[in-house]
Amino acid sequence: TDAHTTGPFIAAIDQGTTSSRCIVFDRDGRIVAVDQKEHEQIFPKPGWVEHDAAEIWTNVQEVVAGAIDKAGITAADVKAIGITNQRETTLLWDRNTGEPVHNAIVWQDTRTDALCKELGRNVGQDRFRRETGLPLASYFAGPKARWLLDNVEGLRERAERGDILFGTMDSWVVWNLTGGTDGGVHITDVTNASRTMLMNLHTMEWDDKIASSIGVPLAMLPEIRSSAEVYGQVKGGVLDGVPVASALGDQQAALFGQTCFAEGDAKSTYGTGTFMLMNTGDKIINSYSGLVTTVGYRIGDQDPVYALEGSIAVTGSLVQWMRDQMGLIKSAAEIETLASSVEDNGGAYFVPAFSGLFAPYWRSDARGVIAGLTRYVTKAHIARAVLEATAWQTREITDAMTKDSGVELTALKVDGGMTSNNLLMQTLADVLDAPVVRPMVAETTCLGAAYAAGLAVGFWPDTEALRANWRRAAEWTPRMDADKRDREYKSWLKAVERSMGWLD
Ligand code: G3P
Repeated sequence: TDAHTTGPFIAAIDQGTTSSRCIVFDRDGRIVAVDQKEHEQIFPKPGWVEHDAAEIWTNVQEVVAGAIDKAGITAADVKAIGITNQRETTLLWDRNTGEPVHNAIVWQDTRTDALCKELGRNVGQDRFRRETGLPLASYFAGPKARWLLDNVEGLRERAERGDILFGTMDSWVVWNLTGGTDGGVHITDVTNASRTMLMNLHTMEWDDKIASSIGVPLAMLPEIRSSAEVYGQVKGGVLDGVPVASALGDQQAALFGQTCFAEGDAKSTYGTGTFMLMNTGDKIINSYSGLVTTVGYRIGDQDPVYALEGSIAVTGSLVQWMRDQMGLIKSAAEIETLASSVEDNGGAYFVPAFSGLFAPYWRSDARGVIAGLTRYVTKAHIARAVLEATAWQTREITDAMTKDSGVELTALKVDGGMTSNNLLMQTLADVLDAPVVRPMVAETTCLGAAYAAGLAVGFWPDTEALRANWRRAAEWTPRMDADKRDREYKSWLKAVERSMGWLD
């Protein structure tokens, strides 16, 4: 605990893809205590990824208790708690027993590929784009719910009777926090709802036509609320009685935590995947370059703020895969040491299309490839190709962002776990040909959820007060010469081509 810190505080829960954490913040947005716990990644078949939602809820309770204990405080010191979460991961549960009917289907899972193709038949992948901002791709939640209804015995009848609740992880955590079967509130926020492919961006309501085309009954959907308002109070546990006052998808929370409140402000978060969001103010900008249109946030009854997003499915999880599945490194940090032991990639390129390719391609039929191999290549070159994959994938989305918005990239604000990798950050500046800047608090996801909750209960007066907390901690400037950058980009794009068409 920081000796200079005095209460009161705001707590935030980040229910992420690989772990759940709880962080306690003070009024200056400084971290007072953190607790974190990983959960199991379940891979039943190639392309499938699941989570046990009961395990996740147990972990959430543990990390909340852990963080409050480490901070040495009680519920009375905590003015509000905010929630942020891995987006799109889809769960159905029984409202009477609180039991999940199946493991949650994770955002990375590609099992709805055929279903999405079927939904787009004769009309194309952009069938629901005008209303929802999203292309038909296995990434989004609505078709995952449909898959569960089609594949879990007897589920559709139970759903039609009103016994089944749908939720992304925000809904699951808020419902349980506020009492579960004993009066839990069933809500989602506009940012999470905007990832279901069931919400109309123009009305901020469930689109009944689209829901019925996808085959999801409206009766099981949560109420859509703003991202910053009091949804209810925590019932039970160490935070009993504390207002639950925000919910945002993790990428939108990072946008908020980076204080990207002005139109044109953008950030890129390096976690399991990487997601770049640009605030587009009150404008719903349709992408013609493979980005998605999404809700940035909505504070209480203010107007919603929209965003353009470039989503990359696999970045940090490629490093994890090198560690857990390949055993080529012992810790995630070792990827940097290994990659630094060689000058370049030795001709090798790694396209980690493990969940197909997201932006700007939206190709569920893509699968991972390592291209350009010769006998010369060592595991150190592959480690380098792994880091470069993150950088080139970012370059592709910044190019798309520039095309769609007409705004040239002058600097990129970054955050997330991978930003502690200096070689990666330098490579990123090199391939973007723009400076890369990281703020003091790299935990911007939790910070954003805390900020939103704090605004909802008046702990912070307005977004201006939050902006004052943002401080630059590190900056990387480009050093690569233009010829090399162009050559490498061409090779990368060639490798990307090789990753497509595996399911035909
Ligand atoms: O859309 C998926 C995204 O929300 C997951 O974020 O940080 O858990 O990889 P992360």
